[in-house]
Amino acid sequence: MKKTVLLAGGAGYIASHTAIELIAAGYDVVSADCYYNSKPEVFNRIEKITGVKVKNYDVDVCDMEALDKVFAENRIDAVVHFAGYKAVGESVEKPMMYYQNNLDSTFSLIKVMKKYGCDNMVFSSSATVYGMQKVVPFVETMQTGPCTNPYGWTKLMNEQILMDFANADENLSVVLLRYFNPVGAHKSGLIGEDPAGIPNNLMPFISQVAVGKREHLNVFGNDYDTHDGTGVRDYIHVVDLAKAHVKAIDYALEHKGSEVFNIGTGVGYSVLDMVKAFEKANDIKVPYVIAPRRPGDIDTCYADSTKAADILGWKAEKTLEDMCRDTWNWQKNNPNGYDA
Ligand code: UD1
Repeated sequence: MKKTVLLAGGAGYIASHTAIELIAAGYDVVSADCYYNSKPEVFNRIEKITGVKVKNYDVDVCDMEALDKVFAENRIDAVVHFAGYKAVGESVEKPMMYYQNNLDSTFSLIKVMKKYGCDNMVFSSSATVYGMQKVVPFVETMQTGPCTNPYGWTKLMNEQILMDFANADENLSVVLLRYFNPVGAHKSGLIGEDPAGIPNNLMPFISQVAVGKREHLNVFGNDYDTHDGTGVRDYIHVVDLAKAHVKAIDYALEHKGSEVFNIGTGVGYSVLDMVKAFEKANDIKVPYVIAPRRPGDIDTCYADSTKAADILGWKAEKTLEDMCRDTWNWQKNNPNGYDA
């Protein structure tokens, strides 16, 4: 029998790409999302790509009553918990909003899952849990925290909460995926990242400069201890990341307890490397100016993803060129994201 996966926060950037890979792998997919930071139009696009209409509920996963209905109407075998606020700066200004929402969503999901006998969860964590580490690559066994902002703390706290739950409940299976820097889009150009307002992250900013929505990129600092002075990160194609979720679900369904995996490529690129690669892949100019450092940024961050390769059998396959080309293909075909 086909297994059904609930995507909590299923209309988001990473979730929508994960839906496609889960469908391709033979899973049924259901989404619960309140569209705070996403648009239901994404499901029409997913249908165009896969031929499958994802059953989607306009539900805030913190609302246990509404969530209960989703579980009552569907036999959910596993959950991927993508639901949460994710803007670092906003989390500093509105910590209550972040702690309340990002932790409540976990509590209500776990409670309703238990009620319906669903014991498998994959959680969207982040490399941000490593805090201001100086040693690279980041390995799962390294010390986590302290985090530099409430958003990061909610990721780390959720990891701890879920590990404690798995420790106390022998039926529970929890897989924590620490994402590095997701970029790119589905090759169709039909789905991609659609940030609200001014993008915080590098790649959506670059593509909005390229499409003419912003004048230039501000490069946050060129005096870091890196090959060209600009910050180095581990950019991972969102389709590779989506495939890691399929492997994580397969794993969660077969095992008990908790495991944590870094999901990155193991290769770091600087801000200027990214600008140059984007310009080359798409034959387009990306004007930039050097600006002051952004508080809380570190020099270099990239993953050791050996554990994911060894245990999940997952490895990133796409190149930097794929990331740049697919980002641009999405951006130029959808200059206003999912808004017509
Ligand atoms: C950021 C968050 C991290 C979060 C992740 C989610 C911060 C400090 N960290 O990671 O907690 O998990 O996003 O995707 O916000 N850059 C520029 N100009 C820009 C934007 C970025 O030069 O307009 C540089 C940054 O200084 C950094 C690199 O590009 O060196 C990547 O930045 P970004 O995409 O925001 O990711 P992170 O900072 O790694």
